[in-house]
Amino acid sequence: MTSESTRPKVVVALALARPLLDQLMECDLTIMAPGVAEDRGLGNALADAEGVLVSSNVSVDGDVMASAPNLRVISTMSVGLDHIDLDAARERGITITNTPVLSDAVADLTMALITMLSRRIPEAMGAVDGGGWSVPLGGDLARKQLLLVGFGRIGQAVAARALAARMRVTYVDTRDGLPAVSGVDRAGALAGALPDADFVSLHVDLNAKTRKLMGRQEFTLMKPTAFLVNTARGGVVDQAALTWAVTEGEIAGAGLDVLEDEPPLADDPLVRDPHVIIVPHIGSATTETRDAMAQCAVDNLLMVLHHEGSPFVVAPNERLQPVDGGRPGERR
Ligand code: DGY
Repeated sequence: MTSESTRPKVVVALALARPLLDQLMECDLTIMAPGVAEDRGLGNALADAEGVLVSSNVSVDGDVMASAPNLRVISTMSVGLDHIDLDAARERGITITNTPVLSDAVADLTMALITMLSRRIPEAMGAVDGGGWSVPLGGDLARKQLLLVGFGRIGQAVAARALAARMRVTYVDTRDGLPAVSGVDRAGALAGALPDADFVSLHVDLNAKTRKLMGRQEFTLMKPTAFLVNTARGGVVDQAALTWAVTEGEIAGAGLDVLEDEPPLADDPLVRDPHVIIVPHIGSATTETRDAMAQCAVDNLLMVLHHEGSPFVVAPNERLQPVDGGRPGERR
């Protein structure tokens, strides 16, 4: 049995179910109260920690890492990594793992938003309020062009669903080595692909290169009948430009699971725009997927603490061997 002094100190800065906490019993655990790390940050909570479990709502910046000299692993229960300073982690030799086990859930939501937009479902629901029964005419998905911006795990899962709906599917991605999928075409550049798309769906990480990837210029290139769908990160879209684009009719509308600021201000014009559907960052919010993510985050943490490989190391700083064929750099 590991003695108290040799048990690795681990901070749990997210809500974990009892059976998962039990799996961490070999560690000396500090469990933060729910919401504290999200609201107030980690501060000095990692002072003597070797590992930390966080969600995408907990920022782990360079200052936090500077106050955590023993930190070896940041295990995030998310696919997104924009809440972690990756460069600071690399410099300090801290391993980062994520949980890319949510592709089906996010792809389902993406297709739901596409369908809601094309069939005008919020409007149709409103038409029944108060005993009404008017029928808004929508559009078919079949034969419509879906442009996927990013063709990693989630983009590929959306493509499979869109092909089943008999949509035409194209993608743009800057990475090499992506799989060839029958029925899916690769476009050279975003600007060249936007004018043909009926739906543009975002599936990229938020980083310096993708921040505000969709701005005024991009919306101007889209058809006035086209829709934007964002289940990636709010920062990938210039939200002021999107507000302008839907207000001015540059595009037909948007389906958003993510926003620059979550939650948005009550008077944010996007919230009240009838052409915009907003849901509160529910991409991974199914019981099965959240359970799988939590288990994956715990497994990742333990594997790194044990100096074993994890398939989900995104910033390898120890001599860890990837366990499966995960492609380097593929996060989302
Ligand atoms: C993720 O995993 O990055 C999802 O957006 C949930 O935060």
